Amino acid sequence: MSHIASRLSAVKPSASMAVSQAAKDLAATGVDVIDLGLGEPDFPAPAHITEATFAAARKERMLYTASLGTAELRKAIVAKFKRENGLDYAIDEIAVANGAKQIIFNALMATLEEGDEAILPAPYFVSYPEMVKLFGGVPVTPACPAENGFRLTPEVLAAALTDKTRWLFLNMPGNPSGAVYTEAQLKALGAVLAKYPKVMILSDEIYEHILFDGRSFVSFGAACPELRDRSLIVNGMSKAYAMTGWRVGYAAGPRDLIKAMATIQSQSCTSVSAPAQIAARAALEGPQDCVAEFRTAFERRRNLVVEGIAKINALRLDPPEGAFYAYIGCAALIGAKTPAGKTLDDDVAVAKYLLDEGHVAAVPGTAYGLSPFFRISTATSDGVLAEAVRRIGEAVSKLEF
Ligand SMILES: Cc1ncc(COP(=O)(O)O)c(C=O)c1O
Repeated sequence: MSHIASRLSAVKPSASMAVSQAAKDLAATGVDVIDLGLGEPDFPAPAHITEATFAAARKERMLYTASLGTAELRKAIVAKFKRENGLDYAIDEIAVANGAKQIIFNALMATLEEGDEAILPAPYFVSYPEMVKLFGGVPVTPACPAENGFRLTPEVLAAALTDKTRWLFLNMPGNPSGAVYTEAQLKALGAVLAKYPKVMILSDEIYEHILFDGRSFVSFGAACPELRDRSLIVNGMSKAYAMTGWRVGYAAGPRDLIKAMATIQSQSCTSVSAPAQIAARAALEGPQDCVAEFRTAFERRRNLVVEGIAKINALRLDPPEGAFYAYIGCAALIGAKTPAGKTLDDDVAVAKYLLDEGHVAAVPGTAYGLSPFFRISTATSDGVLAEAVRRIGEAVSKLEF
Protein backbone atom coordinates (compact mmCIF):
# COMPACT_ATOMS: atom_id res chain seq x y z
CA MET A 1 0.00 0.00 0.00
CA SER A 2 1.35 3.43 -0.94
CA HIS A 3 1.38 6.23 1.59
CA ILE A 4 1.75 8.83 -1.13
CA ALA A 5 -1.21 11.02 -2.16
CA SER A 6 -2.68 10.28 -5.57
CA ARG A 7 -2.14 13.88 -6.77
CA LEU A 8 1.56 13.06 -6.96
CA SER A 9 1.09 10.15 -9.34
CA ALA A 10 1.26 12.34 -12.47
CA VAL A 11 4.08 14.58 -11.26
CA LYS A 12 7.65 13.90 -12.38
CA PRO A 13 10.83 14.95 -10.57
CA SER A 14 12.93 17.61 -12.38
CA ALA A 15 14.54 16.20 -15.56
CA SER A 16 17.56 18.50 -15.31
CA MET A 17 18.16 17.33 -11.73
CA ALA A 18 17.89 13.72 -12.95
CA VAL A 19 20.49 14.34 -15.67
CA SER A 20 22.83 15.91 -13.15
CA GLN A 21 22.41 12.88 -10.90
CA ALA A 22 23.25 10.54 -13.82
CA ALA A 23 26.34 12.67 -14.50
CA LYS A 24 27.36 12.48 -10.83
CA ASP A 25 26.85 8.70 -10.80
CA LEU A 26 29.09 8.31 -13.86
CA ALA A 27 31.70 10.68 -12.40
CA ALA A 28 31.71 8.59 -9.20
CA THR A 29 33.03 5.66 -11.27
CA GLY A 30 36.11 7.77 -12.15
CA VAL A 31 34.94 9.13 -15.53
CA ASP A 32 35.70 12.80 -16.30
CA VAL A 33 32.15 14.05 -16.96
CA ILE A 34 31.19 17.59 -18.04
CA ASP A 35 27.81 18.31 -16.49
CA LEU A 36 25.86 20.84 -18.56
CA GLY A 37 22.53 19.72 -17.12
CA LEU A 38 21.66 22.38 -14.54
CA GLY A 39 21.27 26.11 -15.22
CA GLU A 40 23.26 27.90 -12.56
CA PRO A 41 25.60 30.87 -13.06
CA ASP A 42 29.14 29.81 -12.11
CA PHE A 43 30.02 33.22 -10.60
CA PRO A 44 30.01 33.86 -6.84
CA ALA A 45 27.33 36.26 -5.61
CA PRO A 46 28.83 39.80 -5.73
CA ALA A 47 30.79 40.70 -2.56
CA HIS A 48 28.73 43.78 -1.65
CA ILE A 49 25.66 41.54 -1.39
CA THR A 50 27.21 38.94 0.90
CA GLU A 51 28.95 41.65 2.99
CA ALA A 52 25.68 43.54 3.57
CA THR A 53 24.08 40.30 4.72
CA PHE A 54 26.87 39.39 7.15
CA ALA A 55 26.93 42.92 8.56
CA ALA A 56 23.16 42.87 9.19
CA ALA A 57 23.29 39.38 10.76
CA ARG A 58 26.01 40.52 13.18
CA LYS A 59 24.05 43.60 14.18
CA GLU A 60 20.41 42.50 14.26
CA ARG A 61 18.43 39.47 15.29
CA MET A 62 17.04 37.59 12.31
CA LEU A 63 13.34 37.11 13.02
CA TYR A 64 10.28 36.00 11.09
CA THR A 65 9.26 38.67 8.62
CA ALA A 66 5.92 39.59 7.03
CA SER A 67 4.92 36.57 4.94
CA LEU A 68 5.10 38.51 1.66
CA GLY A 69 8.53 39.94 2.53
CA THR A 70 9.88 42.87 4.52
CA ALA A 71 8.55 46.32 3.65
CA GLU A 72 12.14 47.40 2.81
CA LEU A 73 12.61 44.62 0.26
CA ARG A 74 9.18 45.12 -1.28
CA LYS A 75 9.92 48.85 -1.64
CA ALA A 76 13.18 47.94 -3.42
CA ILE A 77 11.17 45.69 -5.75
CA VAL A 78 8.60 48.42 -6.43
CA ALA A 79 11.54 50.71 -7.38
CA LYS A 80 13.08 47.98 -9.57
CA PHE A 81 9.86 47.50 -11.55
CA LYS A 82 9.63 51.27 -12.07
CA ARG A 83 13.32 51.80 -12.95
CA GLU A 84 13.90 48.79 -15.18
CA ASN A 85 10.48 47.94 -16.61
CA GLY A 86 8.52 51.21 -16.44
CA LEU A 87 5.85 49.50 -14.31
CA ASP A 88 3.95 51.15 -11.46
CA TYR A 89 3.08 48.88 -8.57
CA ALA A 90 2.24 49.54 -4.93
CA ILE A 91 3.87 47.62 -2.12
CA ASP A 92 0.75 45.49 -1.50
CA GLU A 93 0.91 44.29 -5.11
CA ILE A 94 4.33 42.65 -4.52
CA ALA A 95 5.06 39.15 -3.23
CA VAL A 96 8.43 37.68 -2.21
CA ALA A 97 8.94 33.91 -2.00
CA ASN A 98 11.63 31.25 -1.89
CA GLY A 99 12.57 31.61 -5.54
CA ALA A 100 10.50 32.32 -8.64
CA LYS A 101 9.52 28.68 -8.42
CA GLN A 102 7.67 29.18 -5.15
CA ILE A 103 6.00 32.31 -6.54
CA ILE A 104 4.65 30.20 -9.43
CA PHE A 105 3.70 27.36 -7.08
CA ASN A 106 1.77 29.74 -4.80
CA ALA A 107 0.04 31.45 -7.74
CA LEU A 108 -1.15 28.13 -9.16
CA MET A 109 -2.27 26.84 -5.78
CA ALA A 110 -4.23 30.05 -5.28
CA THR A 111 -6.05 29.89 -8.62
CA LEU A 112 -6.35 26.44 -10.20
CA GLU A 113 -9.52 24.38 -9.93
CA GLU A 114 -9.59 20.72 -11.01
CA GLY A 115 -9.50 20.50 -14.82
CA ASP A 116 -8.43 24.13 -15.42
CA GLU A 117 -6.03 24.46 -18.33
CA ALA A 118 -2.71 26.28 -18.39
CA ILE A 119 -1.16 27.07 -21.77
CA LEU A 120 2.58 26.42 -21.64
CA PRO A 121 4.20 27.22 -25.00
CA ALA A 122 6.68 24.42 -25.79
CA PRO A 123 9.59 24.30 -25.26
CA TYR A 124 8.83 25.28 -21.65
CA PHE A 125 10.65 25.38 -18.30
CA VAL A 126 10.48 21.82 -16.92
CA SER A 127 8.71 22.74 -13.70
CA TYR A 128 5.67 24.46 -15.23
CA PRO A 129 3.64 21.38 -16.28
CA GLU A 130 4.49 19.47 -13.13
CA MET A 131 3.30 22.30 -10.90
CA VAL A 132 0.11 22.66 -12.94
CA LYS A 133 -0.59 18.92 -12.54
CA LEU A 134 0.10 19.06 -8.81
CA PHE A 135 -2.94 21.31 -8.40
CA GLY A 136 -5.26 19.31 -10.64
CA GLY A 137 -4.67 21.50 -13.69
CA VAL A 138 -4.13 20.35 -17.26
CA PRO A 139 -1.02 21.54 -19.14
CA VAL A 140 -1.76 22.51 -22.75
CA THR A 141 1.56 22.65 -24.58
CA PRO A 142 1.35 24.05 -28.13
CA ALA A 143 4.54 23.53 -30.13
CA CYS A 144 6.50 26.68 -30.91
CA PRO A 145 9.09 25.40 -33.39
CA ALA A 146 12.52 26.79 -34.25
CA GLU A 147 11.08 28.12 -37.55
CA ASN A 148 9.03 30.62 -35.47
CA GLY A 149 12.01 31.43 -33.26
CA PHE A 150 10.44 29.21 -30.55
CA ARG A 151 7.88 31.97 -30.00
CA LEU A 152 4.15 31.64 -29.42
CA THR A 153 2.26 33.27 -32.30
CA PRO A 154 -1.24 34.81 -32.02
CA GLU A 155 -2.60 32.01 -34.27
CA VAL A 156 -1.17 29.23 -32.13
CA LEU A 157 -2.39 30.99 -28.98
CA ALA A 158 -5.92 31.40 -30.40
CA ALA A 159 -6.05 27.68 -31.26
CA ALA A 160 -4.92 26.69 -27.74
CA LEU A 161 -7.42 28.86 -25.80
CA THR A 162 -10.62 27.20 -24.54
CA ASP A 163 -13.34 27.94 -21.98
CA LYS A 164 -11.23 26.11 -19.45
CA THR A 165 -8.04 28.14 -19.94
CA ARG A 166 -7.04 29.72 -16.65
CA TRP A 167 -3.41 30.72 -17.35
CA LEU A 168 -1.08 31.52 -20.20
CA PHE A 169 2.59 31.24 -19.26
CA LEU A 170 5.20 33.28 -21.09
CA ASN A 171 8.91 33.03 -20.36
CA MET A 172 11.33 35.46 -21.93
CA PRO A 173 14.18 35.10 -22.55
CA GLY A 174 13.04 31.51 -22.57
CA ASN A 175 14.51 28.48 -20.87
CA PRO A 176 15.52 26.37 -22.83
CA SER A 177 15.29 28.29 -26.14
CA GLY A 178 16.54 31.80 -25.24
CA ALA A 179 13.64 33.24 -27.28
CA VAL A 180 12.67 36.85 -26.62
CA TYR A 181 9.51 38.72 -27.69
CA THR A 182 9.41 42.20 -29.16
CA GLU A 183 6.86 44.71 -27.92
CA ALA A 184 4.83 44.24 -31.13
CA GLN A 185 4.80 40.45 -30.71
CA LEU A 186 3.58 40.81 -27.11
CA LYS A 187 0.89 43.30 -28.12
CA ALA A 188 -0.33 40.85 -30.78
CA LEU A 189 -0.69 38.15 -28.09
CA GLY A 190 -2.40 40.71 -25.84
CA ALA A 191 -4.98 41.43 -28.55
CA VAL A 192 -5.96 37.73 -28.60
CA LEU A 193 -6.10 37.60 -24.78
CA ALA A 194 -8.37 40.65 -24.64
CA LYS A 195 -11.18 38.37 -25.88
CA TYR A 196 -10.65 35.91 -23.00
CA PRO A 197 -11.19 37.87 -19.75
CA LYS A 198 -10.96 34.76 -17.54
CA VAL A 199 -7.38 34.03 -18.58
CA MET A 200 -4.50 35.20 -16.40
CA ILE A 201 -1.00 35.74 -17.76
CA LEU A 202 2.13 34.66 -15.92
CA SER A 203 5.18 36.31 -17.45
CA ASP A 204 8.36 34.71 -16.13
CA GLU A 205 11.04 37.33 -16.74
CA ILE A 206 13.79 35.84 -14.61
CA TYR A 207 16.37 36.00 -17.45
CA GLU A 208 15.52 39.61 -18.41
CA HIS A 209 19.11 40.83 -17.94
CA ILE A 210 20.71 38.02 -19.91
CA LEU A 211 19.97 39.36 -23.36
CA PHE A 212 22.30 39.41 -26.38
CA ASP A 213 23.20 41.35 -29.53
CA GLY A 214 22.17 44.67 -28.00
CA ARG A 215 18.52 43.70 -27.53
CA SER A 216 16.52 45.59 -24.93
CA PHE A 217 13.98 43.92 -22.72
CA VAL A 218 10.25 44.64 -22.83
CA SER A 219 8.21 43.32 -19.91
CA PHE A 220 4.81 41.84 -20.73
CA GLY A 221 3.40 44.35 -18.23
CA ALA A 222 4.81 47.28 -20.22
CA ALA A 223 3.64 45.91 -23.59
CA CYS A 224 0.08 45.11 -22.45
CA PRO A 225 -0.89 47.55 -19.66
CA GLU A 226 -4.59 46.91 -20.40
CA LEU A 227 -4.11 43.37 -19.02
CA ARG A 228 -2.52 44.60 -15.78
CA ASP A 229 -5.33 43.33 -13.54
CA ARG A 230 -4.74 39.75 -14.69
CA SER A 231 -0.97 39.69 -15.23
CA LEU A 232 1.57 38.29 -12.77
CA ILE A 233 5.09 39.52 -13.57
CA VAL A 234 7.58 37.03 -12.10
CA ASN A 235 11.27 37.64 -11.49
CA GLY A 236 13.99 36.72 -9.01
CA MET A 237 17.55 37.03 -7.83
CA SER A 238 18.85 33.65 -9.03
CA LYS A 239 19.99 34.43 -12.55
CA ALA A 240 20.72 38.18 -12.70
CA TYR A 241 22.78 38.24 -9.48
CA ALA A 242 24.13 34.66 -9.44
CA MET A 243 22.12 33.96 -6.27
CA THR A 244 20.43 30.61 -6.98
CA GLY A 245 20.98 29.18 -3.51
CA TRP A 246 19.79 32.30 -1.69
CA ARG A 247 16.27 31.44 -2.83
CA VAL A 248 14.60 34.78 -3.41
CA GLY A 249 12.00 35.30 -6.12
CA TYR A 250 9.33 37.96 -6.41
CA ALA A 251 6.32 39.04 -8.41
CA ALA A 252 3.99 41.94 -9.06
CA GLY A 253 0.33 41.28 -9.65
CA PRO A 254 -3.30 42.00 -8.77
CA ARG A 255 -3.99 42.57 -5.07
CA ASP A 256 -6.45 39.71 -4.63
CA LEU A 257 -3.98 37.19 -6.06
CA ILE A 258 -1.08 38.59 -4.03
CA LYS A 259 -3.25 38.39 -0.89
CA ALA A 260 -4.15 34.77 -1.59
CA MET A 261 -0.48 33.98 -2.14
CA ALA A 262 0.28 35.62 1.22
CA THR A 263 -2.20 33.30 2.93
CA ILE A 264 -0.52 30.24 1.39
CA GLN A 265 2.91 31.51 2.30
CA SER A 266 1.93 32.36 5.88
CA GLN A 267 0.58 28.84 6.41
CA SER A 268 3.54 27.08 4.78
CA CYS A 269 7.05 28.55 4.99
CA THR A 270 6.03 31.73 6.94
CA SER A 271 8.44 33.87 4.91
CA VAL A 272 11.69 33.83 2.99
CA SER A 273 14.61 33.73 5.45
CA ALA A 274 15.40 37.20 6.80
CA PRO A 275 19.12 37.19 5.76
CA ALA A 276 18.22 36.23 2.19
CA GLN A 277 15.79 39.17 2.05
CA ILE A 278 18.55 41.52 3.23
CA ALA A 279 20.79 40.12 0.48
CA ALA A 280 18.08 40.63 -2.16
CA ARG A 281 17.57 44.25 -1.10
CA ALA A 282 21.35 44.86 -1.22
CA ALA A 283 21.40 43.40 -4.73
CA LEU A 284 18.49 45.49 -6.04
CA GLU A 285 19.60 48.75 -4.41
CA GLY A 286 23.37 48.34 -4.87
CA PRO A 287 25.63 48.85 -7.88
CA GLN A 288 24.42 47.02 -10.97
CA ASP A 289 27.81 46.56 -12.74
CA CYS A 290 27.83 42.87 -11.81
CA VAL A 291 24.68 42.29 -13.88
CA ALA A 292 26.32 43.75 -17.00
CA GLU A 293 29.55 41.81 -16.36
CA PHE A 294 27.66 38.51 -16.11
CA ARG A 295 25.74 39.33 -19.28
CA THR A 296 28.96 39.98 -21.21
CA ALA A 297 30.40 36.64 -20.09
CA PHE A 298 27.18 34.80 -21.05
CA GLU A 299 27.18 36.39 -24.50
CA ARG A 300 30.83 35.40 -25.09
CA ARG A 301 29.99 31.83 -24.10
CA ARG A 302 26.88 31.80 -26.27
CA ASN A 303 29.06 32.83 -29.23
CA LEU A 304 31.64 30.15 -28.45
CA VAL A 305 28.97 27.43 -28.40
CA VAL A 306 27.16 28.70 -31.52
CA GLU A 307 30.44 28.74 -33.48
CA GLY A 308 31.43 25.28 -32.22
CA ILE A 309 28.07 23.65 -32.92
CA ALA A 310 27.95 25.24 -36.41
CA LYS A 311 30.96 23.06 -37.30
CA ILE A 312 29.01 19.88 -36.47
CA ASN A 313 26.96 19.34 -39.60
CA ALA A 314 24.32 17.08 -38.11
CA LEU A 315 23.33 19.56 -35.38
CA ARG A 316 21.33 22.80 -35.61
CA LEU A 317 21.61 25.80 -33.34
CA ASP A 318 20.28 29.23 -34.21
CA PRO A 319 21.96 31.80 -31.94
CA PRO A 320 19.95 32.01 -28.70
CA GLU A 321 18.71 35.57 -28.08
CA GLY A 322 19.11 35.41 -24.32
CA ALA A 323 19.38 33.23 -21.16
CA PHE A 324 22.25 30.78 -20.75
CA TYR A 325 21.28 27.66 -22.64
CA ALA A 326 21.76 26.22 -26.10
CA TYR A 327 18.77 24.22 -27.34
CA ILE A 328 20.37 22.13 -30.03
CA GLY A 329 18.33 20.49 -32.79
CA CYS A 330 19.36 16.88 -33.36
CA ALA A 331 16.78 15.64 -35.91
CA ALA A 332 19.58 14.39 -38.20
CA LEU A 333 20.87 12.08 -35.44
CA ILE A 334 17.58 10.19 -35.09
CA GLY A 335 17.97 6.77 -36.71
CA ALA A 336 21.79 6.90 -36.62
CA LYS A 337 23.74 3.89 -35.25
CA THR A 338 26.18 4.16 -32.34
CA PRO A 339 29.56 2.36 -32.38
CA ALA A 340 27.92 -0.21 -30.05
CA GLY A 341 25.30 -0.91 -32.75
CA LYS A 342 22.36 0.80 -31.01
CA THR A 343 19.94 3.00 -32.98
CA LEU A 344 19.24 6.49 -31.62
CA ASP A 345 15.44 6.45 -31.62
CA ASP A 346 14.76 9.78 -29.92
CA ASP A 347 16.41 12.67 -28.11
CA VAL A 348 16.46 10.73 -24.83
CA ALA A 349 18.72 8.20 -26.60
CA VAL A 350 20.81 11.05 -28.04
CA ALA A 351 21.37 12.57 -24.58
CA LYS A 352 22.23 9.15 -23.17
CA TYR A 353 24.69 8.56 -26.02
CA LEU A 354 26.36 11.95 -25.42
CA LEU A 355 26.78 11.07 -21.76
CA ASP A 356 28.02 7.51 -22.33
CA GLU A 357 30.29 8.21 -25.32
CA GLY A 358 31.16 11.91 -25.02
CA HIS A 359 30.91 12.20 -21.22
CA VAL A 360 28.83 15.36 -21.59
CA ALA A 361 25.57 15.59 -19.61
CA ALA A 362 22.77 17.32 -21.58
CA VAL A 363 18.99 17.30 -21.01
CA PRO A 364 16.81 15.73 -23.75
CA GLY A 365 14.25 18.00 -25.43
CA THR A 366 11.43 15.65 -24.34
CA ALA A 367 11.73 17.25 -20.89
CA TYR A 368 10.81 20.63 -22.41
CA GLY A 369 7.97 19.36 -24.59
CA LEU A 370 9.65 19.88 -27.98
CA SER A 371 11.73 17.18 -29.69
CA PRO A 372 14.19 16.24 -31.07
CA PHE A 373 16.56 18.60 -29.23
CA PHE A 374 18.98 18.53 -26.34
CA ARG A 375 19.77 21.39 -24.01
CA ILE A 376 23.16 22.31 -22.67
CA SER A 377 23.71 25.02 -20.08
CA THR A 378 26.26 27.63 -21.18
CA ALA A 379 26.68 28.95 -17.64
CA THR A 380 30.14 27.51 -17.21
CA SER A 381 33.69 28.54 -18.11
CA ASP A 382 34.80 29.11 -21.69
CA GLY A 383 37.38 26.30 -21.42
CA VAL A 384 34.86 23.74 -20.17
CA LEU A 385 32.37 24.75 -22.87
CA ALA A 386 34.99 24.47 -25.62
CA GLU A 387 35.91 20.99 -24.41
CA ALA A 388 32.23 19.98 -24.18
CA VAL A 389 31.57 21.09 -27.77
CA ARG A 390 34.68 19.20 -28.91
CA ARG A 391 33.44 16.05 -27.17
CA ILE A 392 29.95 16.40 -28.66
CA GLY A 393 31.49 16.76 -32.14
CA GLU A 394 33.68 13.70 -31.61
CA ALA A 395 30.74 11.60 -30.36
CA VAL A 396 28.60 12.66 -33.35
CA SER A 397 31.45 11.82 -35.76
CA LYS A 398 31.45 8.22 -34.47
CA LEU A 399 27.80 7.69 -35.50
CA GLU A 400 26.87 5.77 -38.62
CA PHE A 401 24.18 7.51 -40.71
C1 LIG B 1 12.30 29.96 -16.54
C2 LIG B 1 12.67 29.77 -15.13
N1 LIG B 1 11.85 30.21 -14.17
C3 LIG B 1 12.13 30.02 -12.88
C4 LIG B 1 13.30 29.38 -12.48
C5 LIG B 1 13.56 29.17 -11.03
O1 LIG B 1 14.05 30.31 -10.45
P1 LIG B 1 14.29 30.41 -8.88
O2 LIG B 1 15.69 29.99 -8.63
O3 LIG B 1 14.07 31.87 -8.59
O4 LIG B 1 13.28 29.54 -8.22
C6 LIG B 1 14.19 28.91 -13.45
C7 LIG B 1 15.41 28.18 -13.03
O5 LIG B 1 16.03 27.45 -13.75
C8 LIG B 1 13.87 29.11 -14.80
O6 LIG B 1 14.67 28.66 -15.76
